[in-house]
Amino acid sequence: MTDLTLSTAAAAGLRADAIVVGVAKGTASKSGTLVLAPGAEAVDEAFDGKLVAVLETLGASGAEGEVTKLPAPEGFRTPVVLAVGLGPAPERDGGYATEALRHAAGCAARALAGAKKAGVALPLADAAAVGAVAEGTLLGAYSFDTYKAAGRGGSGGRGGKNGKNAKPPLAEATLLGGKPRDKDHKAALERAAAVCEELNRARDLINTPPNDLDPETFATLASAAAKEHGIKVQVLDEKALVKGGYGGILGVGAGSASPPRLVKLTYTHPGARKSLAFIGKGITYDSGGISLKPPGHNETMKCDMSGAAAVFAAVVAAARLGLKVNVTSWLALAENMPSGSAVRPGDVLRMYSGTTVEVLNTDAEGRLVLADAIAKASEDKPDVIVDVATLTGAMMVALGNRLFGIMSNDEAFRTAVHEIAEGAGEPSWPMPLPEHLLKGMESPTADIANMGERQGGGLVAGLFLREFVGDDITWAHLDIAGPAFNEQGPFGYTPKGGTGTAVRTLVRLAEAAAEGKVL
Ligand code: BES
Ligand code: MN
Ligand code: ZN
Repeated sequence: MTDLTLSTAAAAGLRADAIVVGVAKGTASKSGTLVLAPGAEAVDEAFDGKLVAVLETLGASGAEGEVTKLPAPEGFRTPVVLAVGLGPAPERDGGYATEALRHAAGCAARALAGAKKAGVALPLADAAAVGAVAEGTLLGAYSFDTYKAAGRGGSGGRGGKNGKNAKPPLAEATLLGGKPRDKDHKAALERAAAVCEELNRARDLINTPPNDLDPETFATLASAAAKEHGIKVQVLDEKALVKGGYGGILGVGAGSASPPRLVKLTYTHPGARKSLAFIGKGITYDSGGISLKPPGHNETMKCDMSGAAAVFAAVVAAARLGLKVNVTSWLALAENMPSGSAVRPGDVLRMYSGTTVEVLNTDAEGRLVLADAIAKASEDKPDVIVDVATLTGAMMVALGNRLFGIMSNDEAFRTAVHEIAEGAGEPSWPMPLPEHLLKGMESPTADIANMGERQGGGLVAGLFLREFVGDDITWAHLDIAGPAFNEQGPFGYTPKGGTGTAVRTLVRLAEAAAEGKVL
């Protein structure tokens, strides 16, 4: 990951490949003009105060994420100045929004792939801004090259004709104007580094092809990383799952040559007042099973463990930050495959809770593994359960591919999660759980079916999960099917492929719980 430092040194003296400054669109009073964001003063002076004029000549408008590169002025030790757009300038004295800073820093970091070092002179009005610029830089500089030619040992590697060498991400960045002796600035930087390192690890897991990441390898990897940070690890293998009666997880994993796992990762703090349980859907590959997905729908289904990757990253981040709260993350891991031993449409599963489920569609598998984990997690009576899952295509139809949907059995908590996500820079929207949709899941044979009405399918899935939440436990369900995997081009600090969505929301939720601000 990119190495970040804070420095109050003069921009001109920094030895680096480029210096990043922020530009914005003028506000109402100065509309149509480009304005420099605070932090750019030294560069502007070296341009004799003509930086805006030069940038306008080059076509810069200050639009969010716009990147303009120009040669650095005389006397600078960096060859290049990179101006990045922040969008509309804040009214009067208001600072730049943290998300605008994250976004701009991310775009700059992406544009600097291949460079060794950058000086980042974006506006750092307070510690929150330092954290945002740090996050944007660390997340924007992500790349996944494990399977590219360069990943096999340099440009001379056995890349083959199509093995395009990937440019390595920006190695080092100095946040100019960040105060290395200010304890809030330092803490913001360290927090960003811990969260983003775990988030980027979640992205790696999501991007890893399913032939290299099955339930067992995921469990082993997660155990090793968790132990490094003093997190207690329990792994239930297929035998333990049979013994414990986890019919949902076993049913989904039954068709695969790689058996399922349930992983429990427990971080505790002696001063904790609240306990959170995070549950992640971890389908390492979702073929659909006997209800096989058609071509066009299965190529990116390695991403179906994004929820498990997110809750794994969140508990490790909570431990690294030493949050005064207990966090338990459950990874419900299985591979959904068709075979002679696979669960069939029409089969009835006896779930961990004792509830029987008629499987009408084997492609509605996520709710089956989650139901077992939710019922099990409920036994510990946590103050809240939050599950995270790439659960339904219907949620993508409803919200598109940048927002996740939030459902809950508690409206106030749903609102709290939505606001926390907003602050973290993760777009989401609250969704209802209409009672009438329960009827569609009635089964003539079992207590409930794993499918209901097609319309409102995301809400049907949410209602199914609610059936397995213990009495009096606050619960929220994040359906991240849309934003978990970015099939389009990169934007802001979001790369192509696994995005790590929900990690920052979960970490902020844990922080808010530790501070007594929620629950
Ligand atoms: N993993 C999929 C949902 C999904 C689709 C995630 C696209 C990411 C991108 C899930 O297991 C699934 O197949 N859901 C079905 C449920 C249906 C059969 C009730 C769906 O949404 O079509
Ligand atoms: Mn499925
Ligand atoms: Zn799935």
